[in-house]
Amino acid sequence: MFENLKAQPADAILRLISEYQNDSRPQKIDLGVGVYRNEKGETPILTSVKRAEKMLLAEQESKTYLGSGGDPVFNDLIQGLIFGADNAQHERIVTLHTPGGSAALCVAAGLIMRARKDTTLWVPDPTWANHVPLLGGAGVSLKTYSYYDPHSKSVRFNELLETLSSVPAGDMVLLHGCCHNPTGMDLSRDQWQQVAALITDRKLVPFVDMAYQGFAEGLEEDAWPVRLLFRKVPEMIVAASCSKNFALYRDRIGSLSIVGTDRAARDILRSQAHNIVRTMYSMPPDHGAAVVRRILANKDLNAEWIAEVNAMRGRLKAMRSKLVDALKTTAPGHDFSHVTRANGLFSFLGVNEAQVDKLKSEYGVYMVGSSRINVAGITSKNVGYLAESVAAVL
Ligand SMILES: Cc1ncc(COP(=O)(O)O)c(C=O)c1O
Repeated sequence: MFENLKAQPADAILRLISEYQNDSRPQKIDLGVGVYRNEKGETPILTSVKRAEKMLLAEQESKTYLGSGGDPVFNDLIQGLIFGADNAQHERIVTLHTPGGSAALCVAAGLIMRARKDTTLWVPDPTWANHVPLLGGAGVSLKTYSYYDPHSKSVRFNELLETLSSVPAGDMVLLHGCCHNPTGMDLSRDQWQQVAALITDRKLVPFVDMAYQGFAEGLEEDAWPVRLLFRKVPEMIVAASCSKNFALYRDRIGSLSIVGTDRAARDILRSQAHNIVRTMYSMPPDHGAAVVRRILANKDLNAEWIAEVNAMRGRLKAMRSKLVDALKTTAPGHDFSHVTRANGLFSFLGVNEAQVDKLKSEYGVYMVGSSRINVAGITSKNVGYLAESVAAVL
């Protein structure tokens, strides 16, 4: 039965992780895998999460099944975090708790296939490495719009507008809510306004993937584009992840929000989405949602969590500045200032593949072939060595 199957090519990031782990050089630096790290290079459990887990242990009395939409209290609270407290439990939005942002994308793909098989989803080029396999693999027809210019190291905004202006009405547009992965380059508010106007004029359907809320400018600020679109369009999808901003990576918690034209449409969307979940994974695991819901519902825990998100964001920004400052000394004549213009975990460093290889083989500095770096891998201790290594391969 299985004789026709061929082995899949190894996942580039997983391969990089194992190469890094097998490297015995003490000065090695991992800028590959997309997790937050603190100054010690660790990805700790947040204090607010630890406290919520203690409460959960004391309070939880049953582990009976949840429905396909998961924890309804979590759903209301996360909807408020994404769409704003004013819009929480809005009659046009249905929110489901999902196993990570990835499952939110899968369920959304299932819904698109049921709603309109022949629609095209326009995804940015480049985009998160799993968008195309995940959404395309689910059968959604994909095309790309140009997003990043490696020469100017900024968003190709005019091309983006030009492409989207010729997209047929009813097609969907995938947008990264903030902290674009892999470039870190986000649209300005003025650019978002223009994109929102174009989407409205051309009757396109926005599909926002927001995996890093709180890592660009702040929890409220980063949700601004979603809220802008919500006010303007009749229908939209938002897939969100709690993996990074709650550091709950392996607990698999995210959400899918679908906006319909009115309450009746919302009810149909809910029943469709629940049915897709029922036939896919039946219902989401509870632990992550139970933790997040306690953090969002408890004033004290919420304040502590917000401070922790702010601290993570602050460290990422500080490490970007430190790297760019260090490169000014080690590589004068080269401009790396784009690294401080980017948001979140990632940036393209802007070196070629041969230089990426050399950084790995000669200096033990690991990054993805595209030169995407996770700035959380930089620390005050390793930034000097990193800047010297980069300068050496230029
Ligand atoms: C843009 C983007 N979307 C979705 C995800 C999926 O997140 P999760 O781990 O919650 O499934 C990621 C994770 O890296 C991401 O970068």
